[in-house]
Amino acid sequence: MQIEDAVPRVGALVTGVDVRSLTENDWKQLYQTWLDRHVLIVRGQKLTKPEFLEYSARFGRLKPHRVKKTHDPEHPEITLMGVTSGNSGSDKLVLDRGQGWHTDSPWDVEICKATQLYGLEIPSYGGDTLFASMHAAYDALSEQLKTKIATLKVAFGYGGRARTGIERLDPEDQKMPPAIHDMVRVHPETGRKSLYVNPTHVLSIVGMPEEEGDRLLAELYWYMLQPNAEYRHKWQAGDIVIWDNRCTVHSAAGGQPADQRRVHWRTTIMQ
Ligand code: SIN
Repeated sequence: MQIEDAVPRVGALVTGVDVRSLTENDWKQLYQTWLDRHVLIVRGQKLTKPEFLEYSARFGRLKPHRVKKTHDPEHPEITLMGVTSGNSGSDKLVLDRGQGWHTDSPWDVEICKATQLYGLEIPSYGGDTLFASMHAAYDALSEQLKTKIATLKVAFGYGGRARTGIERLDPEDQKMPPAIHDMVRVHPETGRKSLYVNPTHVLSIVGMPEEEGDRLLAELYWYMLQPNAEYRHKWQAGDIVIWDNRCTVHSAAGGQPADQRRVHWRTTIMQ
């Protein structure tokens, strides 16, 4: 098994291993590398859905995504991304974009530990995924700003204030109340602090007048992308990429040809 850094401060690229037959030592090394690097890319895998589920479950409990119409019919813990439903060629299943910086499921009361994607069909260009370390974002803040935000709480909602894409949810799920989380999170496994805000899902800073809150958020968003702490993943079919939602943000870069498929299986992994 070979492991190399993707960029200096985030991401690790793993080759020469089959995740279906990992030794216990390989697994320990992979998991520790993931904690250290936040985004783990394993290349060249050939997995069935049960095998993808089994590997994903090594990281934590699997939770079916709130957008129920994207669930794989036999395995609801797998979200199908970029697959046509079969009824109509234009009926693309949702969650096939993820454009705009965000972390996954902050609108859930329970913080989502990780998301894992398995690349099946990759367009000839475009369709990359971007990642950034939110430890690096936090570390870059001035001491004054760190003190100011230390005890703040943030309200998150599906689709953010504009409720973008809310129609993807079943009617009962559209009424879910906002989830409230600490703006500064201590990673439960590494003890490192990170900034937990993103421009896609934040509704407000709890207890702060809207205008003041928006000014502070705008200031914080400037810190999200730090030198050598941002990684652009160019997909190959057979890649598995898992990211730590507790300390990263990501965005689908888009830009792929409209007539080419971009298909992934996705799992949502909890503590
Ligand atoms: C996501 O935002 O969860 C998906 C990112 C991607 O499709 O590149």
